[in-house]
Amino acid sequence: MSVERTFSIIKSDAVAAGQSGEILAIIQKAGFKIIGLRMTRLAEIEAQNFYGVHKERPFFGGLVKFMTEGPIIVMALEREDAVKGLREVMGATNPANAAEGTIRKLFAANIERNCIHGSDAPETAAVELAFFFRSSELL
Ligand code: RTP
Ligand code: MG
Repeated sequence: MSVERTFSIIKSDAVAAGQSGEILAIIQKAGFKIIGLRMTRLAEIEAQNFYGVHKERPFFGGLVKFMTEGPIIVMALEREDAVKGLREVMGATNPANAAEGTIRKLFAANIERNCIHGSDAPETAAVELAFFFRSSELL
């Protein structure tokens, strides 16, 4: 397994709750190198496009509202097996099903307000990284 890149978001709930530092510490302790990081706030159209794969799902409207309600932190991360590794550190989508010690188990309120996003495949990671970062920004 070679060094891989993935994309992550500390979502608006965790930023508002002042949990960004603790979440970043968990990510770094898990061996990820932060190669890009920025605080931003999504416009409605950006959130709709970013989560476009879910546009037919019943939770889509609520998800877009949640993702636009306040600042988020977008990150580019690098590690061996980064995509799968970050998903493990994040824990299951629903914090009720998340393993002990995972970010969602520690900080998430419910299946929607779940603190963190992580790309679900290397191909998705490439698209999502390009959504937020120019390649020259990734150091
Ligand atoms: P993410 O894309 O944010 O990393 O989350 P994920 O892969 O674990 O879950 P996914 O199925 O891609 O869902 C995207 C986000 O939509 C919200 N959601 N709400 N109310 C609901 O039933 C529901 N289901 C999903 C969550 O914020 C989830 O992370
Ligand atoms: Mg997903």
